[in-house]
Amino acid sequence: MTSFVETVHDGRVSTMTINRPDKLNALSPEVLSDLKAAIEETARRDEVRAAVITGTGKAFVAGADIAAMRDMDEAEARGFGALGHDVFNTLEQLRFPVIAAVNGFALGGGCELALACDFIYASTKAKFGQPEVNLGIIPGFGGTQRLPRRVGPGLARELIYSGKVIDANEALRIGLVNALFEPDQLLARAQKTAADIATKGPLAVAAAKRLIRDGVDIPLTQANKRERDAFGELFDSADQAEGMTAFLEKRAPDFKGA
Ligand code: COA
Repeated sequence: MTSFVETVHDGRVSTMTINRPDKLNALSPEVLSDLKAAIEETARRDEVRAAVITGTGKAFVAGADIAAMRDMDEAEARGFGALGHDVFNTLEQLRFPVIAAVNGFALGGGCELALACDFIYASTKAKFGQPEVNLGIIPGFGGTQRLPRRVGPGLARELIYSGKVIDANEALRIGLVNALFEPDQLLARAQKTAADIATKGPLAVAAAKRLIRDGVDIPLTQANKRERDAFGELFDSADQAEGMTAFLEKRAPDFKGA
């Protein structure tokens, strides 16, 4: 059965590509279901330590599928929103980091998908925006919440109220994107960063991911307590002994994720 999401597993790094170029990778219910299946299949592979998500053609994802949404009634729209949230939450909860490699348009649900990843690399040709107000709706897959957490509430308000589309340089300037690359370099650079992360202690990276992700929503004192607990717990791992012994023996560590 063909899927709208193609996954390539290359050792410790998996790359998921949204593949519906004739509709600019728009997120229909089918594409979202395929994306969830791809995420879950990747998560089941113990060897995976980092992942990349990108799109085929001139878009990363040009949004939720407008043709599929047009005739939805309220109940159907609630269900569609719940599906998008479920898929993006599943992505955000993965134990390993995910880099969005934004190769082109990341509009609406595409921008929200990138925001559900740990951080964003983009092509110099990428464009970002939350244009839902042009359609009489709002971001429905987490944009009103994740965008202000990433770029701050003032910039998020301006982007969401105006629906304006910004170019890659502007996205870099406001901190939505971590780095820009020439289009033909983007995927390789994202995969290289993923491969580099994959050499680090996987329990440590997973703990850092969890603490950063969950810490923004709780009081600082509580978040710092979680950090203290996680810091201590890591000293109960073989990887901590391996990492520090390898340093003192002047060799590369061989982390097992235990
Ligand atoms: N939902 C459904 N179909 C979409 C889509 C979306 N979000 N975005 C693009 N498409 C489809 C177009 O309808 C078109 O289909 P067709 O060839 O059958 O007519 C095809 O993808 C190519 O798009 P097109 O608009 O012709 O490309 P373009 O290069 O002229 O414009 C965009 C690119 C991204 C500016 C434009 O497609 C656009 O504005 N898309 C919608 C963005 C949006 O509002 N997203 C938020 C949705 S909530």
